[in-house]
Amino acid sequence: MRIAPSILAADFAHLADDVDRVASDVEMLHVDVMDGHFVPNISLGVPVVASLRKATDLFLDCHLMIDNPGDMLDAFIDAGADGISVHVELGDPTVLIDRIRARGVRVGLVANPDTPFSAVEPYMSQIDTLLVMSVFPGFGGQSFIPEVLDTVRSARRYIDTSGAAVEIEIDGGINAVTIASAAEAGADILVAGSAVFGADDPGAAVRALSAQAQAAVAPR
Ligand code: DX5
Ligand code: ZN
Repeated sequence: MRIAPSILAADFAHLADDVDRVASDVEMLHVDVMDGHFVPNISLGVPVVASLRKATDLFLDCHLMIDNPGDMLDAFIDAGADGISVHVELGDPTVLIDRIRARGVRVGLVANPDTPFSAVEPYMSQIDTLLVMSVFPGFGGQSFIPEVLDTVRSARRYIDTSGAAVEIEIDGGINAVTIASAAEAGADILVAGSAVFGADDPGAAVRALSAQAQAAVAPR
């Protein structure tokens, strides 16, 4: 299980400093790209990914919350993205999945809180990561929606029975109160924005969240 700090909650004027604060405790940064159309907020784009790439060797997990991801895929990958996740709500993702795969980066598919597992199931054999949103995308700092744990459990069951090589990532409202339930339900990657960068010591916050997640799945 891994914690992926979401830089959406970092200080964009001191991004490299904030990355340094978590760098020795994580393998991956979660990068939220919002276009003001697919979600009602604008965050960051290709130039920020390119700057991050120069500042860190951490895996850059790019979550595209944009209307036309196909138009931007190559630019994000050229800028240094290590993984690209696209929303299933945009329609059949097969072409996008194939294009991301062909570029040699990790392929992620995202499901909103009200999207059932059945909507992503047909693509499970083609993806590396299933990103389950535990808030409606658009903003950091929202409250965790516990109903999405059913989707995580369905995905976990599917993976465990089929042997599909897919990691489950959960994103939104993950903090000291909610992380145990997400880990217990079967998430492998836990995205946390405000709970990490809102803390006085983001590195310590990552270590504490990670310990809580591990404890939640430890054999009793
Ligand atoms: C929401 C984003 C999340 C968000 C998580 O649209 O996809 O990654 O940054 O932030 P917290 O952890 O604050 O809910
Ligand atoms: Zn995200």
